[in-house]
Amino acid sequence: MARSRSEWRCSECGASAIKWMGRCNDCGSYGTFVEVASAASATSRSLSPTVPIPDVVSLGEAGGDDADRVAVGIRELDQVLGGGFVEGSLTLLGGEPGIGKSTILLQAADAVAKSGRSVLYACGEESVRQVGLRAKRLGATSDRVGLLPEIEIARIEAAVAERKPDVLIVDSIQTAVDSDIPGAQGSVSQVRACTSRLVRVAKELGVTTIIVGHVTKDGSLAGPRVLEHMVDTVLYFEGDRDHAFRIIRAVKNRFGSTSEIGIFEMTERGLAGVDSPSAMLLGERTEPAAGSIVMAAMEGSRPLLVEVQALVTRSYLPSPKRFATGIEVARLNQVLGVLERRAGLSFADKDVYASVTGGIRVVEPAIDLPLALALASALRDRALPLSLSAFGEIGLTGRIRVAPHAPARVAESHSQGIDRTIAAWKGAAPQGVTAVTSIRDAVEAVGLTF
Ligand code: TYD
Ligand code: MG
Repeated sequence: MARSRSEWRCSECGASAIKWMGRCNDCGSYGTFVEVASAASATSRSLSPTVPIPDVVSLGEAGGDDADRVAVGIRELDQVLGGGFVEGSLTLLGGEPGIGKSTILLQAADAVAKSGRSVLYACGEESVRQVGLRAKRLGATSDRVGLLPEIEIARIEAAVAERKPDVLIVDSIQTAVDSDIPGAQGSVSQVRACTSRLVRVAKELGVTTIIVGHVTKDGSLAGPRVLEHMVDTVLYFEGDRDHAFRIIRAVKNRFGSTSEIGIFEMTERGLAGVDSPSAMLLGERTEPAAGSIVMAAMEGSRPLLVEVQALVTRSYLPSPKRFATGIEVARLNQVLGVLERRAGLSFADKDVYASVTGGIRVVEPAIDLPLALALASALRDRALPLSLSAFGEIGLTGRIRVAPHAPARVAESHSQGIDRTIAAWKGAAPQGVTAVTSIRDAVEAVGLTF
C-alpha cells in the first residue's frame, strides 16, 4: 500500500509540488502554494471491476454525416469558420482589448438570431446599457438575443439550462468566475475552471458556445495560452487598433481548415467585410519610397497584396538592433544573412527595422524575397517602382524557390495595376513576370547592385 502523503499546489495555476515553495516555477506567482491531500498514487490503484464498461465505437461507424453548422450570415466570418460554428462546439475568440471582439460577436448574435436561432449573450464585461447602446449603433436589434449581465459561471449555466439557447456567448472569459475555485478573477486557475465548465455546457447541452479571451501584450491569452487545447476552435483577431483593417484567423479548428481568414474593416456601423483588401492595404502608397515594395501574399486560398517596408540606419550600438513588426525576427535575420553572403550587401553596422503595414502578420516564407528587396532598397536609399511586386522563399544558398499559387499572386498584382512581378517561375514566365533564380539575380533585376 502506498503511504498517503500530502502535496502542495499553486492556487494560481494549479501546478503541484512535493514540498512548499515560495515562488511557483510554472507561473511565477509568489506565496500561492497551499497544502492539499494527495490522491493515492496511480500505481497503487488496481484495475477496478466496479467501473461500468464504456461503449466503444468502431472507426468505420464513427463520424457519420458532416457536422451541423450554425451559419452566421456574415460572409467573412462564415468563411474563416468553414461555413459557420459547429453545433455544440466551443470556440475561443482572442485578440487585444479594443480590437473588435465584442463588436463582431454582437453582430454575429444578431445575424444568428435573425436566422431563427436564440442567443444568450453573457456580458460580464459591460453593463446591459452599454451593450444596448452599441447594439443600437450597429443596428443589432433582434429580440431573440438575450443579454445576461452575469459573471458567475454557475448562474450562467443556470440561465442556459432555463432558456436553452442555441448559441451562448461569454464575453469575456477573464471576467467569469467560478466561486468553487480559489484564485482571483482572470487568474489562470479561474479562466481554466470556467472554460472547462463551458466545455460541459457545449458538449452535454449541445449549446454552440463562443468565449471571448483578451490577449495580453506579449501575445499570451490569460497566461500561457492555457485555453487553446480545451476548445474546438481558436480564432484570433489581428490588426492594428490605429487602422481600420482587421483579420480574423483560425489558428485551431477541429472541424475544418486553419488556412482561411476573414477580412474586415472597422466602420462606424461595426465590422464590415472588405471586398478588395489589396486595394485597401495599398491605398496609402502614392509615391515611390526607398525601402518599400509590394508582396503578393497568399492568405489561405486568397491572394492579398501587402506592403513590406524596411528602414536601415547607422547603428550606435555594439550589437545593432533588428526589429520586426508582422514578420518573424528569425526570418529577418536569415534574410539579412543571405543578403550579406549571397548578394554582397552588408548590414553589419546598421540598425534594421522591417514591417508589414496595416497591422498584418505574414507567416509564409514567400515574404523572403520582398523583404530582401525592401532591405536592399533601404540600404541603397533608392526607391523601387510603385508598380512592382515580389514573392518567393529564399534558401540559405541564396536560391529562390517557386512559390505555391504563383499565377494567382500575379493576377492579383495585375488587378491592382502592378505590371511587373519578380519571382521564381517554373517553365516560361508569363508577361509581366521577371523570373529570377537567386537573390543576386533579383537584386540585379531591380537595379540595386553597385
Ligand atoms: P470592441 O468590440 O469593444 O473591442 P473588444 O471587445 O475586442 O475589446 O471594439 C471597440 C472598438 O471598436 C472601440 O475602439 C470603438 C470601435 N468601434 C467602432 O469603430 N465602430 C463601431 O461600430 C463599434 C461598435 C466599435
Ligand atoms: Mg469587449
